[in-house]
Amino acid sequence: MKRRLLIVDDDRDSVRLLKAQLINSRWIEVCGEALGVEEAWAKLQANQPHLVLLGGIKGTERGVLCQQFRLAFPHLSFIAACSSNELMWEPFFRNLGLWVIAKPIEPGQIEALAMMIQPPGMVAEAAPQQHQYVIQEQTRSYPSQQPSISEPITDSLVPEMTRPKQLITVYGPKGGVGKTFISRELAIFFSMQKNEGVPLRVIAVDFNLDLGTFATTLNLPRTPNLFTWVKDLDAQLHSFIQDQGKDPYSISSEEWQEYAQALPLSPQHIEKYVVAHPDTGLHVLTSPRDIRQSFEIRDYHLYLILETLKQSNYDVILIDTAPDTTDATIQALFFAEHVVMVGNPVVDSIENIQRLLKLLREAEYPEERIQICMNRLQRKEMFTLDEIRAYFQLLPSKKIFSIPDDVEVKKSINTGTPVMLQSGRIPAKEAIETLGKALFPVDGEQMKAAEKEKQKEKTSLFKWLWG
Ligand SMILES: Nc1ncnc2c1ncn2[C@@H]1O[C@H](COP(=O)(O)OP(=O)(O)O)[C@@H](O)[C@H]1O
Ligand SMILES: [Mg+2]
Repeated sequence: MKRRLLIVDDDRDSVRLLKAQLINSRWIEVCGEALGVEEAWAKLQANQPHLVLLGGIKGTERGVLCQQFRLAFPHLSFIAACSSNELMWEPFFRNLGLWVIAKPIEPGQIEALAMMIQPPGMVAEAAPQQHQYVIQEQTRSYPSQQPSISEPITDSLVPEMTRPKQLITVYGPKGGVGKTFISRELAIFFSMQKNEGVPLRVIAVDFNLDLGTFATTLNLPRTPNLFTWVKDLDAQLHSFIQDQGKDPYSISSEEWQEYAQALPLSPQHIEKYVVAHPDTGLHVLTSPRDIRQSFEIRDYHLYLILETLKQSNYDVILIDTAPDTTDATIQALFFAEHVVMVGNPVVDSIENIQRLLKLLREAEYPEERIQICMNRLQRKEMFTLDEIRAYFQLLPSKKIFSIPDDVEVKKSINTGTPVMLQSGRIPAKEAIETLGKALFPVDGEQMKAAEKEKQKEKTSLFKWLWG
């Protein structure tokens, strides 16, 4: 059975072209076209489409339009077709549960997406060949509506949009520079902050998959952990693939990867995998207990975990990373709104940060997201912060944060008591508070500034990353 597609677009020529291209499609029947909103409503009613392609209608906002349509027709799936200068909206659309494809539209892309939706009562069919192309080109897209999901996605997604969320990745291309210490302190700092009178919901994630110690630095148990989630994801994927009429044991790893990209996420279940820090209520997603378990964690697991975290109702997601350039680390960098790049004022640490900055600049990574933080500064250092700034070729306006070398730090790690929870003047604690305030300004005006910056995000980063 073909999926019925309604094309909503005020560009007559492109509608005509697409209709012509789909005329012999085995998978799709264009059941109508609408050049304006009124017409779209009428045809939604009369033609009962399964799928709506939102090209663009002057003067309307597609996210809003989709939400309105969905209220009246909750079973509908939506595809937003974006030109290259509209691709900055991709994360926004994806948050709303729209699929996103790039213009010019390849009919095969729509066919492939159409095959991923399964209208009730319809038996799954094999997706056409182009499927793989869609996923790789368009980064993640997932159906807005899966028959297996009981509550409408809109319910859980609408409130998320209005609340700014920050994913902060703490990174540093050298071991022992203070990443885990700074992650822990920032996480505790944020969990003690309020936004409009409501305490922030904070989760810390240990992305040192093999040798993570975040839990230890807070005296927390390590069960459940990230691997518990990974096993559940695989179980969900198995049944998802079976639901599509396929045998999970006989599909290729590429197909597996593609199904993973389309797996419906369940941000409401994250709490099953976290441990709570008793004193602050901070949630921690700890790394696996056994190194061997970390070997079983694949890119798509991490991708699904990060996507789910992004859709969760945590206000701050803080990721501690390993000093490497594995996929876990790179994904954590590219998912982040802010990166705290940690180093020590020693030449090897500085050299590696410089190399990392070079790589990120080549990838057109938005440098405004990176905050450089020099940890363990002593009263007299061989390099001044100005010299380091010059070496990194930072803009003169860019502040380098510094955290002093402080005897209290070691004690606090050994006892599992964050400096943030200790009273009295602790220089390292004050420095981390300064960093935290710069990362997540709760003041209204600054918040808007942070939002603006988010919209500038370049989606091509993922393409650069995974070709
Ligand atoms: N500001 C600081 N002052 C004194 N010691 C510090 C400071 N920051 C980190 N340390 C010490 O460095 C050690 C390594 O820090 P850690 O956060 O585990 O580094 P990383 O996560 O980068 O490998 C800690 O155990 C702590 O004793
Ligand atoms: Mg560490």
